[in-house]
Amino acid sequence: MKKNELVLILDFGGQYCQLIARRVREVNVYCEIVPYNISVEEIKELKPIAIILSGGPASVYIDNAPKCDPAIFNLGIPVLGICYGAQLMAVAMGGKVDRARVREYGKCELTVDNNIPLFKGVERETTCWMSHTDAITMPPKDFKVIASTENCPVAAMADVDKKLYALQFHPEVEHTVAGKDMIKNFLFKICNASADWTMDYFIEKTVLEIREKVDGKKAICALSGGVDSSVAALLAHRAIGDQLVCIFIDNGLLRKGEADKVESIFRKKFNIPLIRINAENRFLSRLKGVKDPEQKRKIIGEEFIRIFEEEAKKLGDVEFLVQGTVYPDVIESGTDVASTIKTHHNVGGLPEKMGFKLIEPLRYLFKDEVRQVGRELEIPEEILNRHPFPGPGLAIRVLGEVTKEKLDILRDADDIVLREIKKAGLYNSLWQAFAVLPDIKSVGVMGDERTYAYAIAIRAVVSSDGMTADWAKLPYEVLENISRSIINEVINVNRVVYDITTKPPATIEWE
Ligand code: XMP
Repeated sequence: MKKNELVLILDFGGQYCQLIARRVREVNVYCEIVPYNISVEEIKELKPIAIILSGGPASVYIDNAPKCDPAIFNLGIPVLGICYGAQLMAVAMGGKVDRARVREYGKCELTVDNNIPLFKGVERETTCWMSHTDAITMPPKDFKVIASTENCPVAAMADVDKKLYALQFHPEVEHTVAGKDMIKNFLFKICNASADWTMDYFIEKTVLEIREKVDGKKAICALSGGVDSSVAALLAHRAIGDQLVCIFIDNGLLRKGEADKVESIFRKKFNIPLIRINAENRFLSRLKGVKDPEQKRKIIGEEFIRIFEEEAKKLGDVEFLVQGTVYPDVIESGTDVASTIKTHHNVGGLPEKMGFKLIEPLRYLFKDEVRQVGRELEIPEEILNRHPFPGPGLAIRVLGEVTKEKLDILRDADDIVLREIKKAGLYNSLWQAFAVLPDIKSVGVMGDERTYAYAIAIRAVVSSDGMTADWAKLPYEVLENISRSIINEVINVNRVVYDITTKPPATIEWE
């Protein structure tokens, strides 16, 4: 099958790099993020239809400033430089960049020349998002100023004949009102992109690729019931049918009813061979007496791998392992300039040394693309829109030592939190919502009796990526319903509190 047209995004460490990629993919053009120092030879081999230079935290005139090969600008490939990328283009082509007279941060009024292809259809006066300390003070020869703001005379410049465009502002963020139009103009009016990146084409192509790679052999997949592993498993199943066996390990640390639900969806709805391992006792006995959160993570991770290995061995002659790795994981571990690295404890991940050949069908997809693929494969919305759930599960929400009694209390309380939040129609607006069982008992009174029972904490946060988060301003009524139901329905709990801390300084999970 035909390869998709490719746009390369050179990553200079800007926080908006992934956002640029999202904007490009959204309009059905395939793009990849690559390190800024990719060689011109490599670029030529990849045959991109366009190159985008991202923003970045550095100044172009400091020593060791990250720079791309200036030959990039003479390949005849259209280039869009954004913020730092724009300044780099200016310097490489013989212009000048200096510290700006006024540092601009936030929304700015922009005046554009809308006769230029990049700004076709954009209002002459529009709002853009700026975030810079340096600015282009002199455009290179042959470049023309195509937009300005009050404090930034060269807010955009272009060499229209060579298809080189530079924007000091950020078209990829929502605050730049016509940002999406500018990106679309660049891709379709300047680069003549054909919008060939669609999820049904992706599915068709990926299914063929997997089938060819596996070539009649056997593959396994560790199913967690989360979006990524579910979509990866289904894609692989469509490609190779019963040559794929899914292994689902119930570690006893899942939410209420979750294990049965996963089993029923995959076995009954999709008819996928599934081995369910009930390993609650193994996990709980290894966690006995363990209080330290990192120790818990380590034990759970190790036990998971051990069980998986045992099962794989029983199956015999398995050559391939299907994994739900997604593009943000690849970018975060792959490009050394990304300044914000998520502390992702890889629990539930499998080590490379297991010796399987990997099949990672979602390796180049963003999360919402994974969901789109899932939707086309008819995975229930309930799985597709599920909040993230940590690999070590409820073990890091039962603070201190993990016991079956505490897990059952937490499961019941958590089920109520989710039930009430769904009932209020708030589930999809939250990044995560769950209950935590702190290791404390407090005094209460029920009827005429004094009680001494557990407290439950509720955590609900809004976030776009889990790296920072704000506590959700849940309506009092919802909080009241949650609290009342937990007290009435969950035995051994007499108090409910709401966590009103942002991340940072707190984290989303309590351990
Ligand atoms: P924190 O608590 O660090 O969590 O603010 C950020 C996001 O990561 C999830 N998380 C984990 N996911 N294994 C995982 O797979 C883990 O050990 C783990 N710890 C935290 C957390 O649920 C949140 O979405």
